Amino acid sequence: MNYLKPGVWALSLLAAASVFAAEPVSVSIDTSKPGPVINKDIYGQFAEHLGSGIYGGLWVGPNSRIPNTKGWRNDVVGALKAMHVPLVRWPGGCFADEYHWKDGIGARDKRPVKVNTNWGGVEESNAVGTHEFFDLVEMLGADAYVNGNLGTGSAQEMSEWIEYMTSDSKSTLANLRRKNGRDKPFKVAYFAIGNEAWGCGGNMSPEHYADLYRNVETFLRAPAPYRPKMIASGGNDNDVSWSDVLSKQLKRQTDGISFHYYTIPTGKWEVKGAATGFAEQEWISTLANTLRMEQHMQRNSAAMDKHDPEKKLGLFVDEWGTWYDVEKGTNAGFLFQQNTLRDALVAALNFNIFHAHADRVRMTNIAQMVNVLQAMIITDKDKMLLTPTYHAFEMYVPFQNATFLPLTLSNNREYALDGASIPEISATAARATDGKVYLALVNTNPRQPADVAISLPGQQVQAVRGRVLTAAAMDAHNTFAAPQAVKPAPFSAKAVDGKLSVQIPAKSVVVVAVE
Ligand code: AHR
Repeated sequence: MNYLKPGVWALSLLAAASVFAAEPVSVSIDTSKPGPVINKDIYGQFAEHLGSGIYGGLWVGPNSRIPNTKGWRNDVVGALKAMHVPLVRWPGGCFADEYHWKDGIGARDKRPVKVNTNWGGVEESNAVGTHEFFDLVEMLGADAYVNGNLGTGSAQEMSEWIEYMTSDSKSTLANLRRKNGRDKPFKVAYFAIGNEAWGCGGNMSPEHYADLYRNVETFLRAPAPYRPKMIASGGNDNDVSWSDVLSKQLKRQTDGISFHYYTIPTGKWEVKGAATGFAEQEWISTLANTLRMEQHMQRNSAAMDKHDPEKKLGLFVDEWGTWYDVEKGTNAGFLFQQNTLRDALVAALNFNIFHAHADRVRMTNIAQMVNVLQAMIITDKDKMLLTPTYHAFEMYVPFQNATFLPLTLSNNREYALDGASIPEISATAARATDGKVYLALVNTNPRQPADVAISLPGQQVQAVRGRVLTAAAMDAHNTFAAPQAVKPAPFSAKAVDGKLSVQIPAKSVVVVAVE
């Protein structure tokens, strides 16, 4: 295998407006037929009270020696701001259905200590509550997605929480919010009624959940400018009936239905596969499993189309990402896993799928933001590193609120191994808010680069400029000793005789502006 160091790609690719032996893959972007806007919230994040996802990883408290603002780590917040996080979902997850919001307001030293029964049985201090969460999202310049408690909560508890957060009146609850330091209402962009009602949220049927949802939603009244989008907690990869039943029964009372799908290398929850040190069989199985998101989006959109052909409801993939065996020596309830180049490709492949379904998929949340599952950031005490997944999110920033452009992919080969087979190149294009056309390309083949010819019919393509993320090993990752081992490098190419070709390195993600 002929690997180049990432920094060398730029030079070699400038020279790579070249003549290739094999017929190149062809990408033709049609700028005359713009599609829907790719909602920035597709790039949403998820922060649950789970392991060090919040405590330690994000929140250290105002008295910590780790530099912080209002208790939130400056290093982590700074890095998240740089990747333009548009939306954060909180407080769970399964945790949401045991969370009582009144435990998390008022003086922190007087808040009740609970047991986090979902995640490791550890003590939950409630130090992070509603006000702290909004401090975080407001520092990030992000919107808030609050997940209500249907499991152990009630319509009254959720309706009071909405009033506490959103009322501009002089009601007792709004005044309590003021007493706790916040005069103006908080902006809640989305509010979900429960989580995984088919599992940790109560083991219900979709019909039973639909009845409960209708009842609760009736009482979640917020003044017009502060009314959140209401989300019904939907199904998972095993069951499309939730999208069917909920879109039929709730369409006048909901703005969208959620969906969860996790990528597991083996496809088996009992032995999921390792985050690092895996064989090529688990490289291809992971990417093949993540590409199933396409079928899930098709099937769930089709189920919703039956009852909502105008596509008023959103399909909100509010949990997705890789789920591996936990790292040895860590608390199994903390879901801590390493994050490699493979995860960056998983993220990019999912972005490309979500873009293609942007008419229905208007919000998603990767699980999770820091230290949990497919994280953007890993911390250890005062140290922090950015994962390959972070870099994929940051490279795709131009696609936030961009307008989808259809493209035709021809001569695409299959990357195959031991009976498994997936397309070698995945691509997506959009016109960004800066007016430029952006193209993202993923080469799933860990052994072979791919030659790609890029064209915009009716227009001259002169050059492409952007960045590439790749590395020598399939499981390349950043560590505290080598935090920059995997990071994007410049990537560009110029047209020769009016034709533009690039070589996409093996196992890489490329995002370029097309000039
Ligand atoms: O993201 C971890 C957990 O996965 C969430 O709490 C739950 O909703 C899902 O099962």
